[in-house]
Amino acid sequence: MKKNFFFLVTGVLIIHTGFSQLTVKNLRCEDRANPVGLDIIRPRFSWQLQPDQRNLVQTAYEIQIGNKWDKREIWNSGRQSGSESVYVPYGGNALQSAKSYYWQVRVWDNKGRVSGWSEKAFWQMGLLQPGDWKASWIESESAADSVNGPALLFRKSFNSAKKIISATVFITTHGMYEAFINGKRIGDGFLTPGWTSYNKRLQYQVYDVTALLDKGENAIGVMTGSGWYRTALAWNNNKNIYGKKMALLLQLEINYSDGSRQTIISDGSWKTSDGGPVRFSEIYNGETYDARLEKPGWDSPGFDDKTWQNVVEKDYPKNNLIATYNEPVRKHETFNAVRIFKTPKGEQIIDFGQNLVGWETILVKGKSGDTITVDHAEVLDKEGNFYTDNLRAAKSQNIYVLKGGEEEILNPHFTFHGFRYVRVKGLNGQIRSVFPENKSPTHNGRNGKPYDVAYLSAVTLYSDMEPTGQFTCSNPMLNQLQHNIQWGQKGNFLDVPTDCPQRDERLGWTGDAQAFSRTASYNMGVHNFFSKWLKDVAADQSEDGRVPFVVPNVLGPMAGGSAGWSDVSTIIPWNMWLAYGDPKILEDQYASMKGWVNFMAGHSRDYLWNTGFHFGDWLFYRPADDNDGRSAVTDKYLIAQCFFAHSTQLLINAARVLNKQEDVKQYTELLSHVKEAFLKEYVTASGRLVSGTQTAYVLALQFDMLPESLRAQAAERLAINIKDYSDHLTTGFLGTPYICHVLSRFGYDSVAYTLLLQDSYPSWLYPVKMGATTIWERWDGQKPDSSFQTPSMNSFNHYAYGAIGDWMYRTIAGLDTYDEGAGYKKIKVQPHPGGGLGFASADLETGYGKLSAHWEIANDKFILDVVIPPNTTAGIYIPATSPESITENSKPLPDQKEIVVSGREGNYIVLQVGSGTYHFSADKVK
Ligand code: BGC
Repeated sequence: MKKNFFFLVTGVLIIHTGFSQLTVKNLRCEDRANPVGLDIIRPRFSWQLQPDQRNLVQTAYEIQIGNKWDKREIWNSGRQSGSESVYVPYGGNALQSAKSYYWQVRVWDNKGRVSGWSEKAFWQMGLLQPGDWKASWIESESAADSVNGPALLFRKSFNSAKKIISATVFITTHGMYEAFINGKRIGDGFLTPGWTSYNKRLQYQVYDVTALLDKGENAIGVMTGSGWYRTALAWNNNKNIYGKKMALLLQLEINYSDGSRQTIISDGSWKTSDGGPVRFSEIYNGETYDARLEKPGWDSPGFDDKTWQNVVEKDYPKNNLIATYNEPVRKHETFNAVRIFKTPKGEQIIDFGQNLVGWETILVKGKSGDTITVDHAEVLDKEGNFYTDNLRAAKSQNIYVLKGGEEEILNPHFTFHGFRYVRVKGLNGQIRSVFPENKSPTHNGRNGKPYDVAYLSAVTLYSDMEPTGQFTCSNPMLNQLQHNIQWGQKGNFLDVPTDCPQRDERLGWTGDAQAFSRTASYNMGVHNFFSKWLKDVAADQSEDGRVPFVVPNVLGPMAGGSAGWSDVSTIIPWNMWLAYGDPKILEDQYASMKGWVNFMAGHSRDYLWNTGFHFGDWLFYRPADDNDGRSAVTDKYLIAQCFFAHSTQLLINAARVLNKQEDVKQYTELLSHVKEAFLKEYVTASGRLVSGTQTAYVLALQFDMLPESLRAQAAERLAINIKDYSDHLTTGFLGTPYICHVLSRFGYDSVAYTLLLQDSYPSWLYPVKMGATTIWERWDGQKPDSSFQTPSMNSFNHYAYGAIGDWMYRTIAGLDTYDEGAGYKKIKVQPHPGGGLGFASADLETGYGKLSAHWEIANDKFILDVVIPPNTTAGIYIPATSPESITENSKPLPDQKEIVVSGREGNYIVLQVGSGTYHFSADKVK
């Protein structure tokens, strides 16, 4: 007994005196674990501290960097005082092309401890200069190499006589590629090299292929398909946007144990064939795969390529080559059928239960020449038939011709589809969806039929962003909405943020992306995804500052400059700054941000921007039979003026972060003129806006267009307007992201909840009620009687209205960052209970570690569980009447030295805390 007591006491002492070890974990370089192929001259390092303990702050750090192979130290930061633990830049001599480095870090904390050195993490540089590419671009001279032609095969064999210690391949194509060494696939990325504004920025990928090479004979095979490079994109058969022919650029660097090196490059010695199995592939139309044309062993040594053609070397520029910064597109979830059935029309359909993006995989055994056709659709029509009208001109069809005899596993390569249902033709036997464990079921020849059973499942493809956030609450409909938002993100973050994944569009629409960007940053790690895409925004911005409607811009140089779309150039950089606290995004985008603001200023007269084409509040509410004028039309130039001000404000914010004082001054002055012009043109003396719509009031309030004195009445007008529409929103793409934020800010939480919980059209929950599994483009994509909105504009996977996710995380659950502590260095936790919810919770992996806030109402108490990551501080807002009514871990606040009561704001008592886990309880405010 005595002994136990002793242990208990020492145990408590250890916890209280913080004897636990300080360690460093989760090392990331440029936000990735051990990245291969970086062309950032000064890479930045991030790490996290452990343990998750109260008030843990880093007081100093030391970074050590060495060559990966000889372990020689090349830089040591020395002991640096400070709490920086994210995006800490390298400060040594110039890093070398293609070289690998290791790094490790140790830290000191405010409790007097020093950690040991962390585990070693690694990174490898890309090819930093165009001259580092020894390889030549190579092409085929085949006449079949045209946009509707086959994929090409390129191959080369070579000998590696010595013991290999490392090998790296650098590769890119005009078109898309899949590459192999000795019959094994290189990497697990798909749709590579991804989509960028190719002529200005073409990504290459870098892979460590040490494990794929053998001592002796080796072979590389690369298959290229048309991809975004030359497939028709947008409308009017707009093909060959970047070029007519596919080409390959590849460099393989091998290091041997004796210190020597060998470089294998694409050059005139390669062979090519246009006779491979992919006969046709297009983004919108799908792929035709003829397995009879597979060339066994084509990507391995010993293959006879005598009949293959020679390649030609091409002198294409290499100064547009860039390393890949974002995560590759990878395979993710596999879906089995929830239902396999025949429609009233007699068609064979598989329902995967989820609207998703990717393709099918088929396991089948049949006769040579048997043809299977797979069509894709998002929905069934009223009668229960397969519905593809909303795909417009996109065929979205894969055709497979069987080799025959053996079991075959088939999937396309250079296309993707947005679908929940597939229609299968040409499989006469039974179809099952759950693949057999070993993928080789015995399903042959019963009753003399070539295949009795074929297996078909769906595989998702999307950029491999880290899942970082989750929102859940006591209302299952809202949880389904959250699910739909996340699936909208998965389906449309396919190397670029697309509007939709299914019809003949799938483009990087800028308005959609800006509207959804903050929500996206909660659900997944989108720092690298958007950093990469924003550079294309800047690259495709015209000289005069005009920002395109879609990026990469495939619509032509004049297709840009619309309010709310072009503001992508200021809104996303700022949102990324808030979410990740990385000043480099602002630095990199600053010229583009400024260019856009200058464009608006240049097209204004007396600070009023009322020229040019605008999409306006796209897809706002418009009843069909609008006899008494219920359509919520907002004046487009009023909207334009609001975004002009907003972008100017964000530019000022960025200038402050980057310490550009001159610009702060200049643009602050511009902003005041822009707002004055707004008041003069669009607001009556009593505060009424020329457009009496929800969107008009929302934008005017969200962007602080009105003087203080006119704000409360404007918010009231907004609330009345919502009542007038029987508690419905009427907003389109531009008003929707902000409506609930504005209501909450001006004290109308309950109206915001009413909108969110509304389940009749137009509302967020109406599609949920109709069985949606993603966010729809239209509030009424499918009508209550199951008929559809117009097929020309009716996507069932369009993330823009999913922008409400931001309010759910930030306001319902209350997870936020202070602007002056961006990236959750200074956290704000301010839950807004309401809407009849019994609990709500949000979790977020921040740069510093896991942050969470879970609230619950139980027994007339408001209970809040919070986890604040190490090396951050937080303001916690508890709905309570007084500090005395709050306890933490059942103890009154004054007994908790680590919790400081800093004041009262409205109905909240505000507390300041450091890292740690907290359990608050307060009497529920009546
Ligand atoms: C796209 C949108 C886009 C809009 C702009 C549509 O076709 O799908 O989401 O923002 O055009 O006009």
